[in-house]
Amino acid sequence: MVQTFYITTPIYYVNAEPHIGHAYTTIVADALARFYRLLGYDTRFQTGTDEHGEKVVEAARAAGLSVQDFVDRVSGKFRQTWDQMQISYDHFLRTTSPEHIRVVQEILQRVHEAGDIYFSEYGGLYCYGCERFILERELVDGKCPDHQVAPIFIKEANYFFRMSSYQDWLIDYIAQHPDWIRPERYRNEVLAFLKEPLEDLCISRPQARLKWGIPLPFDERYVTYVWFDALINYVSGLGYPDQPLYQQYWPSGQHLIAKDILKPHGIYWPTMLKAAGIDPYQHLNVHGYWQMDQGKMSKSLGNVVEPLDLIERYGLDQVRYFFLREMVFGLDAQFSEEALIGRINADLANDLGNLFARTVAMVFKYRQGVVPPPGAAQPRDLEVENTAVQVAQDFLDLIPKLEFHKALMRLWELIGLTNRYIVASEPWRLFKQPEQQSRLDTVLYHLLEVLRYVTVLLKPIMPASAEKMSEQLGLGSALWDRPLPELIHWGQLPMGSAVQKGVALFPRLEVIATFPPTTGSGPEKSKLPAFKSEIDLSTFKLIDLRVGKIVAAEKIPKSEKLLKLQVDVGEIRQVVAGIGRSYRPEDLIGQTIILVANLKPARLMGIESQGMVLAAEGTDGLYLLTTDPEVPPGRPVS
Ligand code: ME8
Repeated sequence: MVQTFYITTPIYYVNAEPHIGHAYTTIVADALARFYRLLGYDTRFQTGTDEHGEKVVEAARAAGLSVQDFVDRVSGKFRQTWDQMQISYDHFLRTTSPEHIRVVQEILQRVHEAGDIYFSEYGGLYCYGCERFILERELVDGKCPDHQVAPIFIKEANYFFRMSSYQDWLIDYIAQHPDWIRPERYRNEVLAFLKEPLEDLCISRPQARLKWGIPLPFDERYVTYVWFDALINYVSGLGYPDQPLYQQYWPSGQHLIAKDILKPHGIYWPTMLKAAGIDPYQHLNVHGYWQMDQGKMSKSLGNVVEPLDLIERYGLDQVRYFFLREMVFGLDAQFSEEALIGRINADLANDLGNLFARTVAMVFKYRQGVVPPPGAAQPRDLEVENTAVQVAQDFLDLIPKLEFHKALMRLWELIGLTNRYIVASEPWRLFKQPEQQSRLDTVLYHLLEVLRYVTVLLKPIMPASAEKMSEQLGLGSALWDRPLPELIHWGQLPMGSAVQKGVALFPRLEVIATFPPTTGSGPEKSKLPAFKSEIDLSTFKLIDLRVGKIVAAEKIPKSEKLLKLQVDVGEIRQVVAGIGRSYRPEDLIGQTIILVANLKPARLMGIESQGMVLAAEGTDGLYLLTTDPEVPPGRPVS
């Protein structure tokens, strides 16, 4: 039987336009949906917009539009944004659509008939920002912590959902399903909420106060509270209760949200489902927040980043890669364009782009573009082969757990190893030796086969780039004709097929600082040092400067400043460089540098250094000197 996978994003409020926070969740959902489709699952991906409530009415008023025109406009903007970002959603749900309204009313009716909705007078503190009654103990300095406004005491008759009667069931359910809410920190957070007695949930608003909502089927004087309306989107979009889609997909339903809406999803929604007699969702996947340098992203701080703007400037796949690689799912992450540029240049242009370009170029130069038959594998080839197989397996294990950053780190370990494999195997030397031609075939085949693995695995992460990569490997979209698990067996790249030359996959971004300093401040903006005394040309010519390529880099224990590098300058030199406050080792692999090659070897922290790398002292750290375009290792610098 075909397995199914149903993934949802939150339905976004239409009182703000799409920003990178929304884009992140949607990209994660998209990557998951694409991944499961590749696995051969029958997959459904739903997103949409949340269009009722007081805040929407206010936003429409502020925009000078009728509420309907306003929601149409902003909802359209979300949809267009996702379309332009090639988000592969199957259904875009609007809470103002008849399909949704019908299901919300049906569920209200069911829960009411089951006796879990009652009418009562209630006086309490109401936060208009949250659109809910707020408890005294939730306040910080008398104010709602989310909106920084003191709530107002209001008293009115309303309908309440008996959430409290499901508290014990929920605690039990969480205990029995340890990874139901994940990562674990959010499960613990929900359990911490549940340590206090749950109050019943006020689920109505009088029409006299708010008209823009779904009327209660059993009392037209009221509309539904936005959360009771919004959460139901996850089943209304499947045509609950009687449409085949609901039977087909709900049993595999998983939600994706950020930590801001943990409580409604971890407490209100499962208890609502239970009361309506619907099975719980399979997983609640909760991620952290993208923070800007100035703190939280907000309109008032003027630091809202629009996804389309970012994509136009940096490329869709580049942004997708950055999001998925940079954020540890579950934790907050810092957003900056410097970090984005750093990842694009280091991981994509240097590591992956160069590996691809070099390999394809060598296959053309040495084998007229034809995939050669490999000869007997040597230990070095087997290391690459075994790593590829293991990395692919890890990738398949990590993505369903939403550990994108780890999966990509593993993949880049393979890419790094393969770049070093080129250096160590020296195909350019093999080419010149007639008796080494079978060896050269083996090396080229291993390189191409690794690239096939990388291409296969990157498809859900960078779909368009993976297509381009597959074109260059001469495989086209037929590469994904079979389910992913069948593609990660070594040796499937057909011999004799033709690779294609293509444009650079990930052009380097020309910026002054190619690799942003990671930590530390380096020299402050200060007076420039005085010029040193003159030397003549013959003295200068004593210095042997060479182009080098960093093939390995690691931290030196107990030193913040020093990194141990292996630099290819036609031969491999070990160099201890004082650039550890400005560069992360993993970003350096593949980087072209300039080496002082005839400096007397010295020992730093007990480690021999056979040369010195040149770096400019920027105001905020060190910047390695490099060549543009790339020059082969060992070439002299004059
Ligand atoms: O809460 N970092 O809608 P919303 C990461 N309509 N993700 C972020 C983010 C950030 N800085 N900012 C927003 C609502 N998000 C309700 C949901 S669901 C039944 C109803 C993402 O427009 C993240 O997914 O405020 C977060 O949970 C969601 O946008 C909130 O979107």
